[in-house]
Amino acid sequence: MLKEMPSRLATSLCGVSLTNPVLAASGTYGYGVELKGLVKLEALGGIIVKGLSREPMDGNPPPRLVETAAGMINSVGLQNIGVRAFVRDKLPQLEGAGTAIFANVFGYAVEDYVEVMRVLEDAPGLAGYELNVSCPNTKHGGIFFSSDPGLLGEVVTAVRAAIRSARPLIVKLSPNVARIEPMAKAAAEAGADAISLVNTFVSLAIDPGTRKPRIGAGFGGLSGPAIKPIALRMVYEASRAVSIPVIGIGGIASGADAAEFMIAGASAVEVGTASFWDPQSPVRVAEELDRFLEREGVSRAADLVGTLKFGT
Ligand SMILES: Cc1cc2nc3c(=O)[nH]c(=O)nc-3n(C[C@H](O)[C@H](O)[C@H](O)COP(=O)(O)O)c2cc1C
Repeated sequence: MLKEMPSRLATSLCGVSLTNPVLAASGTYGYGVELKGLVKLEALGGIIVKGLSREPMDGNPPPRLVETAAGMINSVGLQNIGVRAFVRDKLPQLEGAGTAIFANVFGYAVEDYVEVMRVLEDAPGLAGYELNVSCPNTKHGGIFFSSDPGLLGEVVTAVRAAIRSARPLIVKLSPNVARIEPMAKAAAEAGADAISLVNTFVSLAIDPGTRKPRIGAGFGGLSGPAIKPIALRMVYEASRAVSIPVIGIGGIASGADAAEFMIAGASAVEVGTASFWDPQSPVRVAEELDRFLEREGVSRAADLVGTLKFGT
């Protein structure tokens, strides 16, 4: 009997089997449950849920979103229902969703991250964790975890120690640094199983009529196609600096975009802003990636990873 051909897209990320390497990015797919009737969740490589904190958070004053040329600025302020309500009310609804569910975690002190992780470790049904380190550390005068390798190492070490399960720990890096390599290395040395990048770029939109920021909180994070070339460069640099898998994020809206990130060195990708104009985007990106692989005669998506040809 002929064995069924393995799908070109099927892949493994830190020991987690994924139907394809395209995941929905945190903050752009709710808790997954909201998309249930709209999208075949089993067609997604995975879902990274909205960032979870120790206590519920109301988020920032409106306006929270503004469109820019080829992108979007947001300052949602990490609004969320809190980790306990997520585990109690949302996670059970994702049982049998047929896709890998990753919890995105954030905090303002190392203890916050550790406490959220303790709660998640007791919850069934999660494939792994993604740490959002783009938050100011309240104990260190507001220095961002994501811009200081020492602080980053501290939070990753503490979180790593709190994980007893085999669930992988992905550390999501901020692009708001001059050099990404020291941050990638600090995360890897402190025990990250993978890194993901990029989060949004700190930015400002101004209404010239009122001379006020267009975003209620002032600054916001830029995402969408506008950031793709910078994100690609950073994914390339990070993937050369560490030997753990890298997940590429930033303006991905097509299969070709996903292929570019994989060629730059990403083992998987996340789709964020594109889901705002079409929630089917991650599924479409995966289908387009499959057609790209077929056209190029590549038998496994993983064969694309890190194949960038520099020079002549
Ligand atoms: C409205 C919005 C909310 C977001 N919330 C989170 C979050 O809670 N945690 C996180 O790690 N990233 C968050 N992000 C960042 C995205 O996951 C992603 O890293 C970023 O938008 C770049 O990808 P994109 O260009 O495909 O959107 C958010 C992005 C947007 C647009």
